[in-house]
Amino acid sequence: MKLDITRVYDFISPDIIGGMEKETAAAQRILHEGSGAGNDYLGWLNLPNEITESELDDIEEAASSLREKSEVLVVIGIGGSYLGARAVIEAMNDNFSHLKNKANTPHMLFAGHNIGEDYMHELLELLDERSYSIVVISKSGTTTEPALAFRLLKDHLEAKVGPDEAGKRIIAVTDQSKGALRQLADEKGYRSFVIPDNVGGRYSVLTPVGLIPLAICGVDVRELVKGAREMYKTCAPDVPFAENPAAVYAATRNALYRSGKKIEILVNYNNKLHYVSEWWKQLFGESEGKEGKGIYPSSVDNSSDLHSMGQYIQEGERILFETVISVEESDHSVKVPEDAANLDTLNYLKGKNIDHVNKMAELGTALAHLDGGVPNMHISVPSLSEYHLGQLLYFFENACGISAYMLGINPFNQPGVEAYKKNMFALLEKPGFEEETARIKSRI
Ligand code: PA5
Repeated sequence: MKLDITRVYDFISPDIIGGMEKETAAAQRILHEGSGAGNDYLGWLNLPNEITESELDDIEEAASSLREKSEVLVVIGIGGSYLGARAVIEAMNDNFSHLKNKANTPHMLFAGHNIGEDYMHELLELLDERSYSIVVISKSGTTTEPALAFRLLKDHLEAKVGPDEAGKRIIAVTDQSKGALRQLADEKGYRSFVIPDNVGGRYSVLTPVGLIPLAICGVDVRELVKGAREMYKTCAPDVPFAENPAAVYAATRNALYRSGKKIEILVNYNNKLHYVSEWWKQLFGESEGKEGKGIYPSSVDNSSDLHSMGQYIQEGERILFETVISVEESDHSVKVPEDAANLDTLNYLKGKNIDHVNKMAELGTALAHLDGGVPNMHISVPSLSEYHLGQLLYFFENACGISAYMLGINPFNQPGVEAYKKNMFALLEKPGFEEETARIKSRI
């Protein structure tokens, strides 16, 4: 994986970025010494090195027992409790895997990440016809969306295969000792895995939160961890600033932010990266958007979005910068055929790979955006393998910790998420919220 920041130099000189070395090193020190705000949530930092072979063996053994029973795996979770697994599986899956049956590999579907009544009805209708298992993930064990989905799906599975067999098809990933899900898992005898206390949801992809569902769906989780482990070394505090991609990325985005570039767009030219962007938005948005500060994380899937958001990016408010993720290798080769009539005038591309056209769209767009006042960084990823995805995810986690400390923000809490919950509970007249109910009713 390589980071290239040369296309920001028209806006922020290399000297300015180089001049941020000390400040960046200080943020890295705070992170690695655990001396900053939120330091009880630093378990993710060393996680790639700390996962043991026997933990990985347990994960793979649990995964293989569910894989055999399941055409579908329903992953129940929201936010950091599902986006990591979704990012990896969607990056690795065949685009049409839901219509191609790969023997012994369940399709990963999701629930508890929304409160959609139609979604739930349609999912239950599908599950009537399929053999399935459930991984229910909630660190707190009390989040409304996944709790609601689990209540429905547990009943459905018990009615379909009987309570004993349902118990064997459910894995719970939750706190070691607290929360409603822990209690339920213990009472029902579900196999369970622990989310370490010191790892927050959005940094949890390399814990059982990400590894269990991914292993069930055939992802080589050892390679994912190996990639992250390599990236740990590349981003370690003793690596010189200019060679440390997490430090350079954190410094550059902060320099751009201070110059008035308030919105970062994560850009891909491979639709399989859509959920990597969703994961990245949650990681950076929930970590940095606090106290009236923070770069707003946004994303586009190109070239599709060049025909929707392209106009704004080229000519709208000049508060944007981009970070482009470019995948070097395609898995397959498709070449442009010759056409005798050439009515579409595409013969000039004959014999060229589709990916070549895509790469020229990417380069042409980066240069056009630069001309239009949008600096862009470029991350090149060799392929969408487990190893390279492990590198990419850990790179972003590490950079996010550094970047948030440079902003003067605690990266590991999310106090703002409580505001909607309080109002929703009050409106739903949840016991214990009587005062809030009275207050909110006076406003509507
Ligand atoms: O990153 C986070 O901490 C959050 O997005 C949580 O993952 C999310 O709110 C789900 O929480 P829980 O796992 O407790 O159900």
